[in-house]
Amino acid sequence: MSSFPVSENVSKMRASSTLSAMIAAADLREQGFDVIDLTVGEPDFPTPPFIRDLAVEGLAKGLTKYTPSCGLKTFTESIAHFYQEQFGTDFAPSEVAAACGGKQALFNAVCTLVNRGDDVLIPKPYWVTFPEIVAFCGANSVYIETEETDFILNADQVRDAITPKTRLLIINSPSNPSGRVVPADEMRRIIETCVEHGVYVLTDECYLFFAYPPAEVFTSAVLPREIREFVAVAGSFSKTYAMTGWRIGYTIANEPWTKAMVKLQSHSATHPTSFVQYACARALERRDESMSAVGAMLAEYKRRRDWLIPALRTVTGFKCPMPEGAFYAFVDVRELLGDRFKVSADVADHMLHNAHTVVTDGAGFGAEGFLRFSYATSMENLEKAVERLRNLF
Ligand SMILES: Cc1ncc(COP(=O)(O)O)c(C=O)c1O
Repeated sequence: MSSFPVSENVSKMRASSTLSAMIAAADLREQGFDVIDLTVGEPDFPTPPFIRDLAVEGLAKGLTKYTPSCGLKTFTESIAHFYQEQFGTDFAPSEVAAACGGKQALFNAVCTLVNRGDDVLIPKPYWVTFPEIVAFCGANSVYIETEETDFILNADQVRDAITPKTRLLIINSPSNPSGRVVPADEMRRIIETCVEHGVYVLTDECYLFFAYPPAEVFTSAVLPREIREFVAVAGSFSKTYAMTGWRIGYTIANEPWTKAMVKLQSHSATHPTSFVQYACARALERRDESMSAVGAMLAEYKRRRDWLIPALRTVTGFKCPMPEGAFYAFVDVRELLGDRFKVSADVADHMLHNAHTVVTDGAGFGAEGFLRFSYATSMENLEKAVERLRNLF
């Protein structure tokens, strides 16, 4: 194969760490094995039918042309209105921009703020894409260790990590991969600490609605305006409404930041699909219906979580705290490490080949010694997986 001179910015980015496990699993499946995949980062539910119908309605209305880069007026207005009704926020539609998924929202927010050589704080364990966006911008990821506080970030840890080079903190709560939720009061303290030091905050709220009571749903969009001047929210429809393939998300940020993001997006994706924006806008207007669809998914995730975590704790060598949100269990397998398994990836490999069960190694999330189990799959699969693991170690 001929070589290609990949640009410096892109060659600094690492490919997805979950890929090799997925390829190995596909190989086993081709050989006829019944492989249980617990790596999935997307809901196993279909998109609620009323949202699918709304997309068809958008098409029938002829919404097949370009929209403004910030999104249709009805889209930005419905986000602002929905948040106001749901959370009591007061941001304007001009502070909202549509994006092609939460991922593009994150890219837009980081690329418009961060300069080459800046430091960006990222608490561990982190979602794999955060450091790669930072690398793409030529900035440095500075990691905050949170194991001592059970993977729940606090304001003291943030204060200790801030230096004059710190430009931005990226927080994801509920967290992928840990499932932990930073309590609302602590989120406020963390963000206030950043603002005191002139550090911006990007809150990845992709799993916003998936916090299991008593854990609270918290969006930084509720913060007072003077604090929000330093904050951008990356939101997404992907997990909330089981719409991963639709590629739609949004940012909420002050007007100048939003304008910069829209400028960037106008030269890349332009905007997310027109009739998808329409469907999302109309769906948010039907708040009761949307929230009841979300509530049904949340209840099912909770049922699985409540079964899975105690079950995983019965597997030799597994330690697993109760996650308060998202749909992942983050299992500490360090007790199994030694002569037989050097690193957690070896444990994952053993599970793959001897129990035909695929999980994601924690090392890619900055947490060597841990494995991520997704429970965005059927109870039947979860039960089968635990059964296979019980006598494996
Ligand atoms: C923490 C986190 N943020 C953002 C995303 C991006 O999702 P999407 O681009 O589909 O909205 C994901 C997807 O897995 C995620 O886990």
